[in-house]
Amino acid sequence: MHNSPESHFKKPRMEHTEIKHYLFSEIFKASLFIANNMVRNNKYTNSNSYTYIDLFAGSGKFEDDSKGSPLIAIDIAANHLKYKGNAFNEIDLIFIEKDKQNADELKKNVELELEKHNLENLRVKIGDGSWEEYDIEKILRDSTWGFVFADPFSTELKLEDLKNELENYSKYKDILIFANFITLARQYARSHDNDIKRVCEFFGISENELQGDIDFSEKFIELLKNKLRKIKDFSIGVAIPIAVKKELRTMNYFYLVLFTSSVMVGNAFLKSYADIIEKYRNKESNLPFDNYNEEPLYNLLKKVKKLSLYEIWEYYQQNFLSWKKLITDSNLKVPTLKNITGIINNFKNNCLLEIAADGKYLYKKPKIRNGYINYNNLKNIHDLKEIKINSTSL
Ligand SMILES: C[S@@+](CC[C@H](N)C(=O)[O-])C[C@H]1O[C@@H](n2cnc3c(N)ncnc32)[C@H](O)[C@@H]1O
Repeated sequence: MHNSPESHFKKPRMEHTEIKHYLFSEIFKASLFIANNMVRNNKYTNSNSYTYIDLFAGSGKFEDDSKGSPLIAIDIAANHLKYKGNAFNEIDLIFIEKDKQNADELKKNVELELEKHNLENLRVKIGDGSWEEYDIEKILRDSTWGFVFADPFSTELKLEDLKNELENYSKYKDILIFANFITLARQYARSHDNDIKRVCEFFGISENELQGDIDFSEKFIELLKNKLRKIKDFSIGVAIPIAVKKELRTMNYFYLVLFTSSVMVGNAFLKSYADIIEKYRNKESNLPFDNYNEEPLYNLLKKVKKLSLYEIWEYYQQNFLSWKKLITDSNLKVPTLKNITGIINNFKNNCLLEIAADGKYLYKKPKIRNGYINYNNLKNIHDLKEIKINSTSL
């Protein structure tokens, strides 16, 4: 399947791109909404602007007129600015595109889109060149809140360069990276010098670091998670299938990986993945809870008797989520906060564990000393660490 920077946008948008755009738009909306609430609730002062950076912007539109990430971002930002009560009253959108033809198309498409909204406080800048030529760190430094999207075709992203730009000024910014897993896996398997060089450049590691017996998919997850571990508390990866000849293949071809320090943003990402899985699976997945010994938490609690909710969350998010498994097995659930705490509450109901936590994290039920976890009040890593689980009869 030949795909070049220009030809990609001269075709109708493929179904896997549609899935990517659904997840991207939901998470960008959630990131902006959650940041806005935090600023509005006055926890964080001196900031009324939000910055979105698209490092691999593309041309903005596909042949069938469907929108690419820059135009989707414009719509979301414009809708936000139209509500005068929102905390962010200025939004900067920075789109960077290396291919000259795509950058020119993008300029035209953006101009037309901005005319529709006609908002002075929506500022768009388009960089025509490689994102590596721009001072991303400076852009990030100038704005407390924001979102960074890195969406290469293949292995043209260098994660180490990205990490270097992000590490100092990303505290309140969410980061979404698209990774072409199968291309990397094929390059790794072919093992020609050039292939290995590309894989190493993508992860920013030496050839020695790439060696070892472990399966490439495990290595891929470990290297991606490790890359931004020092910058962000949580990393969540979800698989996306590929469409070949207009047919969607049920396989884990690409991954979208979110890095965030907000449980709410992470959870919003998982919820949108659960929704898209539901759409494609088209089956009811809320089975009655009876075979609890098949639940991963059961094995975890057998091994470790005392855990925090943070450790349980990490346990569920340690592997990237498999499209293939979730689509084909309707008993499996996406580990959203609702689903994870639902499983814990069910275990408690079956007297398999006890929950110890401050009352603000629990449903208030009179006469029940330790209530059940109410996931609505979980906002950050601290909240997850505050909730302790002790297994009783496992
Ligand atoms: C997968 S497309 C982006 C699609 C876009 N994010 C969307 O969702 O509509 C990748 C784009 O990145 C561009 N590109 C490749 N390397 C780049 C770099 N170093 N800096 C900026 N753009 C780059 C390509 O020309 C291509 O248009």
